[in-house]
Amino acid sequence: MARTLITSALPYINGVKHLGNLAGSMLPADVYARFKRLSGDEVLLICATDEHGTPAELAAQTAGISVQAYCDEQHEIQRKAGEGFNLSFDWFGRSSSPQNAKLTQYFALKLEEAGLIEERTSKQVYSIDDGRFLPDRYVEGTCPHCEYEKARGDQCDSCGRLLDPVELKSPYSAVSGTTNLEVRETRHLFLLQSKKQDEIRNWVNASEDWPSLAKSIALKWLDEGLQDRAITRDLSWGVPVLNADGSARPGFENKVFYVWFDAPIEYIAATEEWAIANDDDWKRWWRTDEGADDVSYVQFMGKDNVAFHTVSFPVTILGSNEPWKTVDKLKAFNWVTWYGGKFSTSQKRGVFMDQALDLLPADYWRWYLISNSPEGSDAGFTWEGFQAAINSDLANVLGNFVNRITKYCVSKFDGEVPAAGEPGDAEAWMIDELQTRLPTLRRYYEQMEFRKAAAETRAIWAAGNEYLTKAEPWVKYKSDVDAAAIGVRTGLNLAALFGIIAQPIIPETAKTILDALGVPESNRSMNTGDMDDVAALLDALPHGLKVSAPPVLFSKIEDSQVELWTEQFGGGD
Ligand code: 2FM
Ligand code: ZN
Repeated sequence: MARTLITSALPYINGVKHLGNLAGSMLPADVYARFKRLSGDEVLLICATDEHGTPAELAAQTAGISVQAYCDEQHEIQRKAGEGFNLSFDWFGRSSSPQNAKLTQYFALKLEEAGLIEERTSKQVYSIDDGRFLPDRYVEGTCPHCEYEKARGDQCDSCGRLLDPVELKSPYSAVSGTTNLEVRETRHLFLLQSKKQDEIRNWVNASEDWPSLAKSIALKWLDEGLQDRAITRDLSWGVPVLNADGSARPGFENKVFYVWFDAPIEYIAATEEWAIANDDDWKRWWRTDEGADDVSYVQFMGKDNVAFHTVSFPVTILGSNEPWKTVDKLKAFNWVTWYGGKFSTSQKRGVFMDQALDLLPADYWRWYLISNSPEGSDAGFTWEGFQAAINSDLANVLGNFVNRITKYCVSKFDGEVPAAGEPGDAEAWMIDELQTRLPTLRRYYEQMEFRKAAAETRAIWAAGNEYLTKAEPWVKYKSDVDAAAIGVRTGLNLAALFGIIAQPIIPETAKTILDALGVPESNRSMNTGDMDDVAALLDALPHGLKVSAPPVLFSKIEDSQVELWTEQFGGGD
């Protein structure tokens, strides 16, 4: 059995994620995992909350509670939101787990042994009034590149550049707002990425299976030259810096590892958390000397995360000189935009996962976000676009087909799959369509081309509607019941097939369809073997099987709802 390990970029702990975050990693990771499971692979889908670093500390401070209490609360909220969206994580872990602390410390020691870590003195912003250093997001100011006035110490939200806090112009403390700051010297551990430049470039070049967006970003970073970078911070919340014997490293008692050092290691640690909870073995997924050499490892992330996954994390695991599994395919996404602007957690702009589920079931959102996946370029969210996609693709093309054919079977054929009738021209046409379309659909999934996979899924549903127009069972019924019977039987089998291919994207609705048609779990696969024989697929339901009409699958989105939501969520401003 082929084995596929899938990780989604870890959402920061500070608050429920917006639809843009969902579309850029967690949702496509889930869709791909579902497809792979349906294709017969053993799949492990891993995600976790990214709990360290300044975002967590600052949010806890705003909430007026301890960082630990804040993370406990927010982890649970995010876990529930993921569940609400039917994200089929095998494990949704926490980067603050003891497993991650241990593994992070282990990697740091291995890297030091390999001569890739050095203590260096560096300059950091210090707040005299707050009595502390202000790493990363603890300091804000004007971006030296684009003059955006609310740039964060680690990154400018306007131009996207990574920053060093000391570069900011007119800096102020995000803790107190004070501008009484100075630059002081402090010691940190530096990861000597520059030493690994050639090795990483060879590794990137050898990776034939990376989609182009990820590869081009990785090569751009390599072309600019890898910089050594500090992997510790003057903070108290995070993974402590220890010696091999477990004692605190002198001079580092009040420092922790940088969040971007420990976060990707949590992919491995979360697998360990999963293994402990399930009495399984995590090393068979991650150590090539313990069985992971036949694992295919796929990562999902937004484009701002690519450098960390193609350069920094590989330096960590390759630099350890141990046989760790590295990524085979890395799928990166552009942004989902909100009326041309950005979705923003800090400014609460856009629709957030919990709010979305209060409006409509998960499948509506899943379909829209996947069929408009920000793959080739950014994808714009608008309420009108959302309404059009749902009403046309889901309500008209899929929903009507399933309701029409099942209801007709119930009213004219006693709700039983008809046995009579021989396939004719219309069925031959349908078989022909499916013979090219089903392998195309599978190929798009294999290539992780989600927008195309959704379009092909829709095209198959649309072809089914065209088939019914050709077969016309309702017209034929008046003169030749057997001729109508073949149309109904084929139509019911098409409805089942539509449910099968809908499973990765809209799992809940797919289940409703397949349950109504009495399709056993074992016959719901998207395996090549099970999809090859199209004629058999169109006669798969046992003759005489009782079927029922499912409830209306999708309600159309009314103009009045669009107006209300536009007002409520401030679309357009
Ligand atoms: O950009 C983000 O949302 C980060 N929390 C992603 C971390 S991915 C991984 F490496 F942990
Ligand atoms: Zn900028």
